[in-house]
Amino acid sequence: MKAVKIADKVFWIGANVHSEDLFEGIWPIPNGIALNSYVIKANKVAVIELVREWGGASMSFIESLRSLNLTLKDVDFIILNHLEPDHTGFAHILKSLSPKAKFVTTEKGAALLDGFYGIDENIMVVKSGDKVDLGENKSLEFIEIPHVHWPETMASYEEDSKILFSGDAFGAFGVHQGSIFDDQTPEVNKPYWEQEMLRYYANIIAMFSPNVIKAIDALAQFKINAIAPSHGLIWRGKPEVVIKKYSRYANYNKDFAEPEICVVWGSMYGNTEAMLNAILKGIASEGIYIHIHRVPNEEPSFILADAYKSAGLIIGAPTYEYSMFPPMKYLLELLQKKHMWHKKVIYFGSYGWSGGAQKDFNALSEHMNWDIIEQLVFKGHPTVQDLNKGEEIAKKFAQSILEIPSKIKDEDY
Ligand SMILES: Cc1cc2nc3c(=O)[nH]c(=O)nc-3n(C[C@H](O)[C@H](O)[C@H](O)COP(=O)(O)O)c2cc1C
Ligand SMILES: [Fe+2]
Ligand SMILES: [Fe+2]
Repeated sequence: MKAVKIADKVFWIGANVHSEDLFEGIWPIPNGIALNSYVIKANKVAVIELVREWGGASMSFIESLRSLNLTLKDVDFIILNHLEPDHTGFAHILKSLSPKAKFVTTEKGAALLDGFYGIDENIMVVKSGDKVDLGENKSLEFIEIPHVHWPETMASYEEDSKILFSGDAFGAFGVHQGSIFDDQTPEVNKPYWEQEMLRYYANIIAMFSPNVIKAIDALAQFKINAIAPSHGLIWRGKPEVVIKKYSRYANYNKDFAEPEICVVWGSMYGNTEAMLNAILKGIASEGIYIHIHRVPNEEPSFILADAYKSAGLIIGAPTYEYSMFPPMKYLLELLQKKHMWHKKVIYFGSYGWSGGAQKDFNALSEHMNWDIIEQLVFKGHPTVQDLNKGEEIAKKFAQSILEIPSKIKDEDY
């Protein structure tokens, strides 16, 4: 790959990876993922974020450096904003191939560098406000943003170009589609990036939303011309709008999210599905935005994105061996784990004799600040009365969700 210039002396040297592997061994990446890495080539050479060997990424990184007449030997600083192996998997190779390079990380990062790669020398430990001067008017300032996503996370700011290297924050799944920049991305492709950024957030970052809010506060003092995350697009069109968008994501689990409904359902023999149809009829009559997902047929990764942004959640699943239908139990566990809080919720499901799904639903929905509007539990096939009731409740539910103000409308994309 050839390096891509971002600003004077600042280049992208990352890799676009297509792989059958799941990201973090759990999240599907049908559109691949960009491992963004950057280099500042001034008197001193600083590499910011690395790649891991994955689908040729490390070779691509070396080739990109070579396109700038740089070799690994020339690297003075390796800035590790975040130690997760998608950005550091190549660190132990650099340790021997870049002998003069210093690894720059936070105190917690230094411990991880030792733990993951046995690297315990040539480390420069930094904290918020510390700077590295690269000469030729280039410097990097570090800002600790712990728990966005791991505890050691920091961001790096280059003052001359006013680029923020933000780590996972503002990142997205998906490979670049012809350009690394948002302002060179066709309008029609923007929803793809919005969805992949939201999915990355819901899958990876959502649990750390209070830390995202703190990080956005800590970064407010910097004038930002471009945000260069470790995945996805470089945001230089309207970075302030992207920050607003991220702040909106971070607030979704503090309050009701968007006036949309995410319906997640599973059914073995169609009894729960019969109620699903009545419920859908009820909500559709109100003209609300509905996302519908079936488990286990659909990947939780995509369901989490829609569930996270929806103020309304409807969960339909039957009893299976005295407890919740297993794929739904797993999904509820993920909703709990990812802090998908503050939702208005309906649960419905069929059982055969003594039930059990409802007990699991109640246990799993505890501590999520869910406003549980209704639980419709019925034996075998729902009766006509059951179905009418379901439709009626769903209609009122949709009306109550529509009263929630949209958080998107103020943003100018
Ligand atoms: C594999 C299996 C396990 C089940 N376990 C229970 C159970 O433990 N308790 C119960 O009340 N019903 C149990 N049922 C009955 C279902 O909950 C019931 O048939 C329900 O109507 C299924 O809804 P569905 O058609 O939406 O799949 C079980 C059914 C199956 C197929
Ligand atoms: Fe990460
Ligand atoms: Fe990452």
